[in-house]
Amino acid sequence: MKTNNLFLPSGCVLRRAKSADSWQIKLLVFSAKLDPTQLRWEQFWVIECDKNLVACGQLRNFSEAQELGSLVVTPAWRGRGLASFLTQYLIHTATQPLYLECLGQRLAHFYSQFGFVPISFEELPRSLKNKFGLSELAKKLIRVPVVFMQYQER
Ligand SMILES: CC(C)(COP(=O)(O)OP(=O)(O)OC[C@H]1O[C@@H](n2cnc3c(N)ncnc32)[C@H](O)[C@@H]1OP(=O)(O)O)[C@@H](O)C(=O)NCCC(=O)NCCS
Repeated sequence: MKTNNLFLPSGCVLRRAKSADSWQIKLLVFSAKLDPTQLRWEQFWVIECDKNLVACGQLRNFSEAQELGSLVVTPAWRGRGLASFLTQYLIHTATQPLYLECLGQRLAHFYSQFGFVPISFEELPRSLKNKFGLSELAKKLIRVPVVFMQYQER
């Protein structure tokens, strides 16, 4: 499992989101066309670099499960390990079995470096089957390359 990216670039800090971050978080998530549900700032962690909010991610809460979601890094800061750092931090913050859905093999490979493994729709807990039902339909009907994953501690 990948355990590098344990440091952020200098000038960057990870912190819990504040209410004042709410619109910037929404802007990041909407501009990346990610799932617009459960965007409560209280659930988010953000990375600030040179005092600008440049990345966010969250744990959505479901019955007996959490979903790692809303992972976005602003384009100018991509490729410097911010998403890797945030992903590992969120994994360690999770208090329930942890799942995610992502689009395409490149992202699935990204998450697999940190201990996520692809699972079938049937293996999801009921609360997430309810949420991901449409994705599964799109995957079956029009071959949208959705991958469901579960974090498996090694
Ligand atoms: C995916 C994303 C969060 C990565 O952020 P980052 O800080 O650049 O990531 P890191 O520097 O920690 O790691 C780089 C890795 O991210 C993954 N990645 C980067 N851009 C990607 C893209 N456009 N599509 C899929 N995976 C990507 C790759 O695995 C990459 O490693 P590689 O260059 O060796 O292939 C960022 O590109 C982003 O915000 N994309 C738009 C939103 C999104 O798709 N979020 C994921 C939702 S499941």
